[in-house]
Formats: sequence, C-alpha cells, structure tokens
Amino acid sequence: METEKTGRERKVSEVSRDQRDARKKGDGAAPGDGLTLGMKIQDLSAFYGSFKAVTDVSIDIQANKVTALIGPSGCGKSTFIRCLNRMHEVIPGARAEGHVMLGEQDIYAKTSDPVVIRRRVGMVFQKPNPFSKSIYENVAWGARINGYRGDMDELVERSLKHAALWEEVKDRLKESGHGLSGGQQQRLCIARTLAVEPEVILMDEPASALDPVSTQKIEDTMDQLKQDYTVVIVTHNMQQAARISDYTGFFYIENMGDPGQLWEFDETEKMFSNPERKETEDYVTGRFG
Ligand SMILES: Nc1ncnc2c1ncn2[C@@H]1O[C@H](COP(=O)(O)OP(=O)(O)OP(=O)(O)O)[C@@H](O)[C@H]1O
Ligand SMILES: [Mg+2]
Repeated sequence: METEKTGRERKVSEVSRDQRDARKKGDGAAPGDGLTLGMKIQDLSAFYGSFKAVTDVSIDIQANKVTALIGPSGCGKSTFIRCLNRMHEVIPGARAEGHVMLGEQDIYAKTSDPVVIRRRVGMVFQKPNPFSKSIYENVAWGARINGYRGDMDELVERSLKHAALWEEVKDRLKESGHGLSGGQQQRLCIARTLAVEPEVILMDEPASALDPVSTQKIEDTMDQLKQDYTVVIVTHNMQQAARISDYTGFFYIENMGDPGQLWEFDETEKMFSNPERKETEDYVTGRFG
C-alpha cells in the first residue's frame, strides 16, 4: 500500500505553499504559475562495489530552472544523475550515501519508496527507448498503471504537445512508437515521462544521438518544460548547456583514479564567462575533454 503522497498531491500542496510564500514577499505569483520543487543534495557519494565513482556532492537544484551537468567522460555525471531518482542502486553492487531532499522528503530515507520516487523524479535516457506499443500507449501506459483516472485522451495530447511532438503524430497515434525517427522517439520518451506528472525531470544526454534539427526541437522544449518542471540535464555539448540552462555544474576528476567531484557550480552565465576555477575555464573553452 502506498503511504506517501502522490506526486500530484504533493505538487499541488507545495505549489500553494510556494505561492503563499511568494505572495507574502509581494512578487505576486498567481495560481497556475507552475512552481514545483527543487532538490537539495547533501554529501552525496556513489559507489560500484568498493569503487567510489562520485564523492561528496552538495548542490541545490533550483525549482523551475534547467540545471546542466557537464564535464569530461568518466567523471560521474551519469552516476550522479541516476542517484537523484534512486536508479543508481538498480545496478548490482551499486549504492549511494548521503541525502537528496525532494521538497521535505529525503529520497534516501528508509521510509521512501523508490517506485514513488521514480514517479516523482522522471528520467529520459541517452538512447530513445520507446515501448513496443503504439504512440498513444507509449504515453498512456505509465499513467494508466499509476491509476490515472482523468481523461486519458486529454493527458496524451497534453503530454505530446508539451514534448513538441503532437503536430507530427496526432494523425498516427495508433501506429508503433518504433516507426518514428530517432528525434521523434526521444520526444515520445519525454512525453511518456511527462504523462506520469513528475516534479523533476532528469535527462542524460537526451540529444547526443540526434541530428541537429531534432536536437533543436528537444532544446526548444526546455523553455516550455521549466515552466512546470525542474529539469536536470547532462550534456557534452557546451553550446547546448550555455543555451538552455540557468545553472551549470562542472564535474571533474583531479587525479587519475580519484572519484569524480563537483568542481564548480554556479549560474550558467558565470560558469561560461568568468568561472572561479581554471579547470572549469579550460573545459568550457574546449581546451580539454
Ligand atoms: N555499471 C558500472 N559498473 C562499474 N563501474 C561503472 C559503472 N558505470 C560507470 N562506472 C564507472 O563510474 C565512473 C563514472 O562513470 P559515469 O558513467 O557516471 O561517467 P560520465 O561522467 O557519465 O561519463 P560519460 O561522459 O562518458 O557518459 C567511471 O569510472 C565508470 O567507469
Ligand atoms: Mg554518462
């Protein structure tokens, strides 16, 4: 039996609290502004067996913003992002230490149910992985097994619109998701993630396998998405990070064999124009990586 609030319930209660707070401050957030939760990560380390892949990351992920994670290959970006919805521990022998607060809940608390956490914090992977089902069912399936009782046609349409795919598929919803192009499949996976109404969306290099036009379409969805969601995206593409994100975290390994660490984190503009640390500057200007 599920004892935690559903994402939707939590979202609504948190939104109204945020709005109350905002109104108190006098900046007039109105209902429907789509404020959601951020995440507060404290001293997070991740292991594969005895190998420590990521060490001691502390970072605040701001709500309704896009946070980009960048850094050289092997420095732990994918490992870290998978810790944010308890996907890391799915790998045999893998475990995480530390705290990840989603609103007021520590997702690593003993009472936290990973299945509920993964619904509240959705994930889009590098390689599009639609189910062997129709386009419609790809979007509807997760919501249905979660017991969604609203108008399913409306949810499917809304999710596909939000993922900037609706116009391309609205006349072929019964066709297989596998019949779509790679870029369309990735947007279908985004729609599928949105349909279960998460609060945070994690994306691990969602556009790295795509052509420039599809990449552009995925980037175009970001501004839309952050109106309603908190987004964390891993990317190797510096221009992309600079274009789409509000905050950037640079992961780095200081010495061979060390675990990856969060080397610098700041507003994207600062990270790309005037970072504090030399390694960050060298990386964002393409001197290594
Ligand atoms: N399933 C696994 N089992 C054991 N070690 C792993 C596993 N996955 C990743 N690692 C190791 O953890 C470290 C971090 O890997 P990770 O995939 O998180 O890096 P990354 O920053 O995402 O790299 P890339 O930019 O190439 O995707 C690496 O040393 C990697 O070899
Ligand atoms: Mg990776």
